[in-house]
Amino acid sequence: MAKPPLSMKPTGWFQVAWSDEIAVGDVHTMKYFDQEMVAWRAESGDLTVMNAYCEHLGAHLGYGGTVKGEVLQCPFHGWQWNQQGRNVCIPYEDRPNRGRRIKTYPVVERNESVYIWHDIEDRDPFFEAPDIFADFGDDSSAADYFPQQRLFRQGLQMHPQYVLENGVDFAHFKYVHNTPIVPVFTRHDFDGPVSYVDFTITFEGDDGQRIEDINSGVEAINGGLGIAVTKSWGMIDNRTISAITPVDEFTSDVRFMVYIGRPADQSGRDPARAEAKAHDFGAEVIRQFSQDIHIWAHQRYSDPPALASSELAGFTAIRQWAMKFYPDGRGGSAAELAAADSR
Ligand code: FES
Ligand SMILES: [Fe+2]
Repeated sequence: MAKPPLSMKPTGWFQVAWSDEIAVGDVHTMKYFDQEMVAWRAESGDLTVMNAYCEHLGAHLGYGGTVKGEVLQCPFHGWQWNQQGRNVCIPYEDRPNRGRRIKTYPVVERNESVYIWHDIEDRDPFFEAPDIFADFGDDSSAADYFPQQRLFRQGLQMHPQYVLENGVDFAHFKYVHNTPIVPVFTRHDFDGPVSYVDFTITFEGDDGQRIEDINSGVEAINGGLGIAVTKSWGMIDNRTISAITPVDEFTSDVRFMVYIGRPADQSGRDPARAEAKAHDFGAEVIRQFSQDIHIWAHQRYSDPPALASSELAGFTAIRQWAMKFYPDGRGGSAAELAAADSR
């Protein structure tokens, strides 16, 4: 294992929890980007994510803090903090402390996930977190799919960019996932902070197939480095979300979610059997992602890498794109070289 040479403080949307982990009145404790944080849900259902330490004398709000209506009350001296991190009540004074503020994070809840915007320069979000249904523009919704299946792996020594680079890494499919044939990329769009990668692939048949005859593939939308959503076509209808969030300078948490499509015509089918089959298929998709994790969690990020000539364009494009998310300029030398080459 090796410490990632890339900055662990990239800018973007990152998953910090699942919505159903934080009910009304809950105060959820977590650590991301080397910060102790709390996520708490007010009576109204609004979710706030903020740094965990009270600005008064520094109590950790995740250990005994309580939700009172729309504010969070500190367990130490009862000061109350609102959803903007402002102090709104000191119970033994006439007026609150208007000067001090606990840092809060922009938050969206989408596809059952809680995403926060992280930026060490505190800029406003400059792109949106991807939506696994709306962003593919096909009028799909969660109702078309069986319940979400999940994988959660904590504290792995890896960086979000490893996962994104998988999206241009055609050569690994055959070896890590035992696909019969090397996929072919049909789209690499790295112009904006949201990038698009499409490829033709099959997981079935033998290696006698020709790629021109394959009628299945995957479309991926990468919302920055933190969240990627995929949609498959021509095979069992499945969608995935992979979300990798740095915890500290060494490790990240990995969340992976799979949706399996419900059959369009459900007449004459045994619903319990269909759901069981979908569950098995979802477990297989998760197993395949776990094969990648097994590599990522132990790899030493190669920078600059020894690329084959057929890999040069894809890796250069994605490493250059990744630079957008490193405001501190520590994207890694390969990314910097790529950026310099293009000037
Ligand atoms: S430390 Fe929070 S109210 Fe005193
Ligand atoms: Fe992979």
